[in-house]
Amino acid sequence: METLSGGRETGIYRQGETVVRPVQAWSATVHRLLRYLHQQGFRACPEVIGMDAGSEVLSFVEGETYNYPLEGAIASEEALISAARLLRQLHDASQGFLKTVNLAEMAWMLPARAPAEVICHGDFTPYNVALSGHEVVGVFDFDTAHPAPRLWDIAYSVYCWSPFKTDPVDQLGTLDTQIARARLFCNSYGVSASDRQQLVSEMIIRLQSLVAFMQAQADMGDAQFVQHFAEGHHLAYLADIDYLRHQQVAITEGIMTVQDL
Ligand SMILES: Nc1ncnc2c1ncn2[C@@H]1O[C@H](COP(=O)(O)OP(=O)(O)OP(=O)(O)O)[C@@H](O)[C@H]1O
Ligand SMILES: [Mg+2]
Repeated sequence: METLSGGRETGIYRQGETVVRPVQAWSATVHRLLRYLHQQGFRACPEVIGMDAGSEVLSFVEGETYNYPLEGAIASEEALISAARLLRQLHDASQGFLKTVNLAEMAWMLPARAPAEVICHGDFTPYNVALSGHEVVGVFDFDTAHPAPRLWDIAYSVYCWSPFKTDPVDQLGTLDTQIARARLFCNSYGVSASDRQQLVSEMIIRLQSLVAFMQAQADMGDAQFVQHFAEGHHLAYLADIDYLRHQQVAITEGIMTVQDL
């Protein structure tokens, strides 16, 4: 059994063609979603195999995986374009799910956000996708999925893929490169002009909500979040919020132009 490393230190293993992960309060909801997505013909996400002694068993999504710093195939334009297209397909495929379930009865890790246009992945980032060569062909880690507007997910993805990050490890390129990558993501997804106007504000609200969530979890004694706070993980998000505020006009002007890199 091979331990898989990601954002979490323990509890995720590969066993042959399956992945074994700890069951959470929202796992039943996520399983319904994953099954629905496959029924809709969206096959780029894990299939639910079943449960095994407090763990969920999912199919292994084939492909190469990456993390920050963005180097190699994951930093390419092809990866960026295919990621944005995959997010669009995921959102489109999830729309009907909202009509088939009673949202009020479902548990999610992150609070649902109105209007519930689609099911957002919640963490559609370079470290939660699988690549074949330079192309993003799969997505996993649906723990953070929740109903919300498309722009809510787009905002966090554009922040992570551009990336508008100031941490020296996570940082990539100049502001101009980051803006060009944000524009390419928006063009590839097909983000509307009105959503582009709102994008930077939405990124800031999304990051503020992330820091508030981390704080709330730490206050409740969640060991992982207590440690993250002690190590100052939230400070990087706060620095990025400042960066986005300072560059809001430049970024918004840059992504309004429908012109590729
Ligand atoms: N279904 C899957 N198919 C392929 N690889 C997977 C799958 N699930 C997890 N992995 C691999 O295991 C790593 C960790 O899994 P995952 O992303 O689900 O959790 P995590 O990032 O550690 O946890 P969290 O994001 O909740 O802190 C991933 O980065 C990926 O490489
Ligand atoms: Mg992950």
